[in-house]
Amino acid sequence: MDASFFKGNREKFSNLIEDGSVAVFMSGNPLRRSGDQFFPFEVDRNFYYLTGLDEQNLVLVIAKKDGVAEESLYLPPLNERMERSNGPALRPSEASGISGVQEVIYTSYEQQIIDYLASGSGRAFQRLYCDYLTYPNLENPQLLALINNLRNSCPYATVKYAGSLVHGLRYLKQPAEIEAIRSAIALTAEGLRNALANLAHGRPEYQIKADFEDPIIRRNHGFGFATIVAAGLNSTVLHHSPGTYQGSTGDLVLFDVGAHSSYYSADISRTYPVSGKFSDKQRLVYEIVLNSQKECLAMMKPGATLASVSETARLCAIRDLKSSGIISSDAEVTKHYYHGVCHPLGLNTHDVMPGGGEILLAEGVVCTLEPGLYFPQWGFGVRIEDDVLITRDGNEVLSPQIIKEIADIENSF
Ligand code: GLY
Ligand code: MN
Ligand code: MN
Repeated sequence: MDASFFKGNREKFSNLIEDGSVAVFMSGNPLRRSGDQFFPFEVDRNFYYLTGLDEQNLVLVIAKKDGVAEESLYLPPLNERMERSNGPALRPSEASGISGVQEVIYTSYEQQIIDYLASGSGRAFQRLYCDYLTYPNLENPQLLALINNLRNSCPYATVKYAGSLVHGLRYLKQPAEIEAIRSAIALTAEGLRNALANLAHGRPEYQIKADFEDPIIRRNHGFGFATIVAAGLNSTVLHHSPGTYQGSTGDLVLFDVGAHSSYYSADISRTYPVSGKFSDKQRLVYEIVLNSQKECLAMMKPGATLASVSETARLCAIRDLKSSGIISSDAEVTKHYYHGVCHPLGLNTHDVMPGGGEILLAEGVVCTLEPGLYFPQWGFGVRIEDDVLITRDGNEVLSPQIIKEIADIENSF
């Protein structure tokens, strides 16, 4: 993605805010892991969407007055000692080249924002758009300090939520974003092929995970979320962390995995038999899940709601589990049907969506389709998850190369 993509995103955002507004976005800081060690830095995804920059402690400010939006990027002051430890810090010319923001300044942004908001005859700026998190316990202390400081110095300024405006934009993917998701899916497909090729060797979950991740790491890519490899009974736990359990001959292994590319994530689930052959019960459940996925897919087009896709999966499960004699009442389905089947996919694996009531599918939305049914009493669960682009009058499955028909899986062993 080049600077024009990020510049275009800032323009779209600026068009959504009123005159007399200042908006601030922060790239974030790494979390402390233990002692003097930190977790690898993960850039705030709204900040990334607006700048393409993925370094810590950067601040983007957009100030809109008389219909004109001025944008500035604030870098932390250079620190030679830190550069000796961590390598050269981002320089203004690099930051401009990646983001397209022309004004890049080494200074504290707080005073500048307070000066903006306090400025001028008639108080030209009255609103501060902040991208605070909606989960209070994950709040950004730096941002809270700014808001408190501002409430004291400019009590007439209103603090508004910037996140929902960016989320509305991020919900509809542009061609470059769809390409990034396709790349993430291609990497994920390669990892799954490698895992499948080694499955019959009798490996514990943590080694199957390594088989999946190895080709992706070798291409210098990372993962949108922690790899899930769950064998046997563990496949009935939705977010099982791969452990030492070594799948035995009759087990299924459930993968829920996704590489990322330019921070755009894939999210794919597949369920494969360790022995290369499904048992009769496993085959029956697998077919019910796969048919449910096909029925849901048929309704995924602009205007359908996300909730209606999950409801279709629930109704398919009730119908097919009852007709197979596995359950006898509708209410019993909740023992086996545990989760919704559709979420947006993008810079976050569980990506953002517009606020408000019902969420409608629309052209350019990318979402997952992931029906699953779980049977702890039989020691297995099945989930099949693909990534789907909503098109003008229907959809395109973005992950068709990752095999999921029973015959294709059994023939690949
Ligand atoms: N991998 C998490 C999910 O499928 O939603
Ligand atoms: Mn998943
Ligand atoms: Mn998912």
